[in-house]
Parts: sequence; C-alpha cells; structure tokens
Amino acid sequence: MNTLIVYSTKYGCAQRCAMELSKELKDNVELINLKGKSNVDFSKYDKIIIGGSAYIGRIQKEVTDFISNNLEELLKKEIGLFICGKQEGDMMEKEIRENFPAELISKAKSVKNFGGEFNFSKMNFMEKVIVKKVSKVTSDKSDIKHDNIKRLAMELNS
Ligand SMILES: Cc1cc2nc3c(=O)[nH]c(=O)nc-3n(C[C@H](O)[C@H](O)[C@H](O)COP(=O)(O)O)c2cc1C
Repeated sequence: MNTLIVYSTKYGCAQRCAMELSKELKDNVELINLKGKSNVDFSKYDKIIIGGSAYIGRIQKEVTDFISNNLEELLKKEIGLFICGKQEGDMMEKEIRENFPAELISKAKSVKNFGGEFNFSKMNFMEKVIVKKVSKVTSDKSDIKHDNIKRLAMELNS
C-alpha cells in the first residue's frame, strides 16, 4: 500500500508532525509540502493524509485549494485529516468542521488535532501581539499531541 501525506506549514510544526506520522505508518509513505508542489499523481496512492496549521481560524490556503481542486479524486481514497493548532475541545472541533468539507470529514478514517507550538523568535511583530492578547502566552510553548499522531497512524494502518 502507498500513502501520501500532503501538508502545509508556516513555521514547521505541521511538517514535523507529518514526519513523525510518516514513521508510524506501515505503508510506503511519501510527503509533499504543498508550498512547493501541488500536482499529485493520485493513481500512485491508496491512502491520502492531508494536514495544515491554523492561523486566525484558517488553515493554509494551499491546503483548502488542494482539497477543493481534487475533491472527487480524494473521495475515492482512504483519507486521514489533521490540523495543528492551539485551540482545544469544542473550539478545535469547530475549527476542523470549518476547514475541511463535511463530505471529506465523513469519509475520513481518522481526523485528529495534532496540537501546536508557539515559537516567539519565529513570529512577526503582529503575530506576537495577537498571541499575547488572545492566548495570554508570553513565552515559547510546545503542546504537540504525540498520542493523536499515533492514533491517526493506527486508524490508517488498520
Ligand atoms: C498569529 C497566530 C494565530 C494563530 N491562530 C490560531 C487559531 O486560530 N487556531 C488555532 O488552533 N491555533 C492558532 N495558532 C497556533 C498555530 O496553529 C500553532 O502555532 C501551530 O503550531 C503552527 O504550526 P506551523 O508551524 O505548522 O505553521 C495561531 C498562531 C499564531 C502565531
């Protein structure tokens, strides 16, 4: 079986999560960063895992474009979805519902929140202001949900 992980990232968290996920999967795995390439030969893959990170409620446009441009092909595959973000609980559920089409969510074998990181040295001035105001966080914080990475892999492996 061949699995493709397509993702986008701004500061690297979603990429690190995608790489960690790739190591948990039993199949042959390829990774594509949608910032560099968006054409995919769908005939090569049985399973496709799509992920990105959330900024002010939205995942990267290249992820939503990839999904909307290829929805018909994607609905023929086994699907996994993930999002990196700092929201929790109902807010994260809402974020997931608002960023992935309902039909793709219901088709997915697994949909997971992989958590996120705040890395102040990488943020621009406005981002620092937003994060300090909204999250009340003032120093670096990593909350990657390694369990959810493992769970998504397990659900796709079965
Ligand atoms: C300016 C800014 C806005 C953010 N907005 C959200 C948000 O709306 N929802 C959320 O869950 N996480 C939000 N986050 C957290 C990011 O999703 C988190 O930092 C993530 O790890 C970034 O992943 P990346 O390095 O792959 O881009 C925000 C972070 C920043 C810096």
